Amino acid sequence: MEDILRLRKINKSFPGVKALTDVDLTLKKGEVHALVGENGAGKSTLMKTISGAYKKDSGSIWFDGKEVEVTSPKQSELMGISIIYQELNLIERITVAENVFTGRYPLKHGLVQWGKMTRDAQALFDEFDLKIDAKRLVRSLTMAQKQMVEIIKAVSINAKVIIMDEPTSSLSSKETESLFRIIRKLKANGVAVVFITHRLDEIFAVCDRMTVLRDGHYIGERDIQSITKSEMIAMMIGRELTQQYPERSNEIGEVTLEVKNISDGGKHVNDVSFSARRGEVLGFYGLVGAGRTETMRMIFGVDPKAGGQVFLHGKEIHLKSPRDAIGHGIGFITENRRDEGLFLRSSVRVNTVMVALGKILSHGFINYKKEAEVSQHYVDKLRTATPSINQKAMFLSGGNQQKVVLSKWLFSDSEIIIFDEPTRGIDVGARREIYQIINDLVADGKTVVVVSSDMEEIMGVSDRILVMYEGNVAGEVQKEDFSQSLITEYAVGERTQPV
Ligand SMILES: Nc1ncnc2c1ncn2[C@@H]1O[C@H](COP(=O)(O)OP(=O)(O)OP(=O)(O)O)[C@@H](O)[C@H]1O
Ligand SMILES: [Mg+2]
Repeated sequence: MEDILRLRKINKSFPGVKALTDVDLTLKKGEVHALVGENGAGKSTLMKTISGAYKKDSGSIWFDGKEVEVTSPKQSELMGISIIYQELNLIERITVAENVFTGRYPLKHGLVQWGKMTRDAQALFDEFDLKIDAKRLVRSLTMAQKQMVEIIKAVSINAKVIIMDEPTSSLSSKETESLFRIIRKLKANGVAVVFITHRLDEIFAVCDRMTVLRDGHYIGERDIQSITKSEMIAMMIGRELTQQYPERSNEIGEVTLEVKNISDGGKHVNDVSFSARRGEVLGFYGLVGAGRTETMRMIFGVDPKAGGQVFLHGKEIHLKSPRDAIGHGIGFITENRRDEGLFLRSSVRVNTVMVALGKILSHGFINYKKEAEVSQHYVDKLRTATPSINQKAMFLSGGNQQKVVLSKWLFSDSEIIIFDEPTRGIDVGARREIYQIINDLVADGKTVVVVSSDMEEIMGVSDRILVMYEGNVAGEVQKEDFSQSLITEYAVGERTQPV
């Protein structure tokens, strides 16, 4: 097969960071190419140099047999390269069709042909069997549907290369399946797709070849057919990874957190009751939209509850804000680090100590030496890739931002720690570190609640699993009964159990 894109010896530096060193990538027409590597390896940066968002320092780019200079996002798009960022780029308050044809509205005698535009957009959605109404406002779509709109937009400009930067990280497994169907169709149409993900199973499911980066260096290129998962991991992290879920020695004790009949008036949460124990990891599984995050947000005081009670050590507590929750020793590591977890303009060190400032005060003043020690400790412990603890959070890669969010809650010493999708966007090596941290927390007598949509993960980390379905707890599964089929039956509403 012919090459559509060739990158040779690409270099890119930021102040204090050499993000890419002599990186090569060869993309063939009609292939799905995985770009993999640990958090901060340089994947997003490399893609931004070909989409025109960043200017490379040196190296060459060959597109369709010709050497090209990419000078701007517009030019890259005109050439036939389209990139779908994780933080999507759609305009929320206009229609799907208008988004697809942004900047290219069909004109006749100087007037926009709205009807034609809507019909053309709809035809593309139909061609891909996507049940999205082109007349709807983007605002009313789900995350997965918005992503589909971005893909159709790429198709409509006849993109020859479509780059997807962690497209599946906020999709349910069913939505991921339909994304794969679209990817296969793009491939059949001769489009080359660059697919970035931290979920290795997805690479085996949909990719043909892969390129591995480590610390900004090119490590190698392989056919997916001729590589095993452990070889893949070894290439990514430069060592063998034994046992993804480390052994745990915890003693499960008395009930610490108890939630009774909590509800948000039926919007997402109808009636949820559960209790969690000292030294226990309680898992919450469910499909996207089952109400798990909304339940946790009420417990943490982010959203008001319409009814129900929360007890800590048997005493009712009233949480009107996250500050109240923190005061009671409850920590919440959110899935949405951009909105809730981090101050992007602040440094790694400031973010790390933020929730537990009291712990680094001496005589009422911030002890900067201690602040530095603490944040350096967590940077080392989680192997956060940052040039220093003074780097602003906004300049870290996605996965490394998540590690900073984790650090601040670890330092805060909460007694109850709620992790909402803790490994989203986190690479395999660091994922194991997070599981180890969860183990350390429960060994230390803390109560850990983990919300995850990843079946393997929820079974790997939990002592007990509650499965939510449409705003209720549909079932409870003890460790000895963990099975994918049982949990799935509860999650899709095919089975319920009074709890
Ligand atoms: N605008 C920027 N300013 C400073 N440093 C940056 C900037 N963008 C990226 N970096 C740094 O470049 C390196 C590579 O980051 P990049 O985002 O490409 O990683 P990644 O492989 O996409 O990681 P992840 O899997 O976490 O998304 C990181 O050390 C990151 O902190
Ligand atoms: Mg990235």
